[in-house]
Amino acid sequence: MPQNSAAPAGARDLRGIVITVASSKGGVGKTQICQSLSGRLAEIGYKVAVVDIDPSLAFSSWHALYSEQGRKPITLASSVPERDIFKTTDSLAERHDVVLLDTAGFGASNVIFAIGSADYVVIPTQTSAKDLVEAEDMVGKVRSSARMANREIDYRILLNRVKPGTRVLAHSLSELERQEHPRLRTMLSDLTAFCESSFSGMVPRGDLASGQIDRLIDELIEIGWIPDRPAEELAEAS
Ligand SMILES: Nc1ncnc2c1ncn2[C@@H]1O[C@H](COP(=O)(O)OP(=O)(O)O)[C@@H](O)[C@H]1O
Ligand SMILES: [Mg+2]
Repeated sequence: MPQNSAAPAGARDLRGIVITVASSKGGVGKTQICQSLSGRLAEIGYKVAVVDIDPSLAFSSWHALYSEQGRKPITLASSVPERDIFKTTDSLAERHDVVLLDTAGFGASNVIFAIGSADYVVIPTQTSAKDLVEAEDMVGKVRSSARMANREIDYRILLNRVKPGTRVLAHSLSELERQEHPRLRTMLSDLTAFCESSFSGMVPRGDLASGQIDRLIDELIEIGWIPDRPAEELAEAS
């Protein structure tokens, strides 16, 4: 979605950003990444919304548990019909710092709408050869959507469930380098804390898991995808 180019130089556009988490393959960690990112961003003061367009409503189930715990609220839009995806994300971006879209895997046509509604796309992948092929397929979809929308849509591959120090990881990294697709430096390890948080409604606990999510957020700030401060904080400071 185009950022407001009419904003005066030096002023931050207070409109939020939209990140779609997409992969044609199921089970690579899209929902887990939406849970961890939304939970942690809310915890550190960002206004966050998640649009759940996966008919299985996995994120929405996690969100119900999350919301029972009296934590910082995360706005949820679920069961959004295809035709309303753009309108919904656009309007949520007016009122939130970050809007995440959790998508379904293979065959879901609404993914194209979710990509078309995004400023940025995160493509999670695991390390198997098949997963990497699927990630490349998703890159093709993002590029096609960008052409159709006649604008750039920046994307990054995010390696999930990695086993550090293994040959399979080294192989995946060299394969991704060969494909020349941009990837996030931060990788998420295969950790019980991520798995547990999916059904407990929690944000991943434990130094390793929460440290990786913090590093992921820092990197997203560094590459300019996420504002370095919530809009509310910025307004209070000025
Ligand atoms: N980094 C991780 N470490 C351990 N388990 C993970 C990790 N990422 C995802 N999982 C688990 O893998 C399963 C599939 O992840 P999920 O986020 O539902 O995938 P998707 O949304 O892409 O279908 C879930 O049980 C989730 O808890
Ligand atoms: Mg999912």
